[in-house]
Amino acid sequence: SVSSGSKTLKDAVNETLREWSKRSEDTFYVLGSALGPYPYPDMVRELQSVISKELKKQTKKYFSGLPDVMVACVGGGSNSMGFFTHYLMDKNVRLIGVEGGGIGEERGANAKRIHNIHASEGIAQGYKSLFLQDKDGQLSQTHSISAGLDYAGIGPQLAHLAEIGRVEFTSALDKEAIEACQFFAKHEGIIPALESSHALAATIKICKNLKNKNIIVNVSGRGDKDIFITTKAINRAKWKGFLQAELTRIDKG
Ligand SMILES: Cc1ncc(COP(=O)(O)O)c(C=O)c1O
Repeated sequence: SVSSGSKTLKDAVNETLREWSKRSEDTFYVLGSALGPYPYPDMVRELQSVISKELKKQTKKYFSGLPDVMVACVGGGSNSMGFFTHYLMDKNVRLIGVEGGGIGEERGANAKRIHNIHASEGIAQGYKSLFLQDKDGQLSQTHSISAGLDYAGIGPQLAHLAEIGRVEFTSALDKEAIEACQFFAKHEGIIPALESSHALAATIKICKNLKNKNIIVNVSGRGDKDIFITTKAINRAKWKGFLQAELTRIDKG
């Protein structure tokens, strides 16, 4: 595990690139998002695009045509690029990316790379894109309740798609993601990942202005992995009490 810097994804990527550049003859670099040095963004997008390939078959059948709106959360871009790819040329399909709005607008309080005065074009970690960075090009600290969205850069393909207006961008706050997670657990019986909960939170807002439209949200992961963060955010005192009771039970047993 990474012990340098802020000990987040940015630092893990730095350490990995460092290790790889020292030992490239017997080491292979693997990255779980659509960013990093070329051709990693393209490789990840191609592999992830099985999502939209399959979806296109299914939407033809269930909607007898195309969906109207598609929504996905955006950390680096792997789930959203995989989800959007086969619909990019279908100009009537609205594609919406949702970033981590964190706890506010100040520098370091969120992970919004698009529509953010604190983000600018730069080159870091092997790729050119939009980054949350200072005037010297040092990557900024970021904040999101969701580890997968808590990152200073965005995949270059998405930065481009935002620039040409093909993908719209919005964001959801930490607390909106938690509320959406609770809402879908209660009403749909699913526990979405905190990353996906951002897409769901934005969808709840988007739906308020739409009628009779077919909307698809990419639920990129399961929320079981986030249970320690989610339960703490929902009811800290009750969660602490539960953990303490469990520890007592273990000690006794
Ligand atoms: C479940 C889940 N969804 C979304 C993301 C965001 O990454 P990406 O934008 O590359 O899909 C992550 C990243 O770790 C994740 O774990």
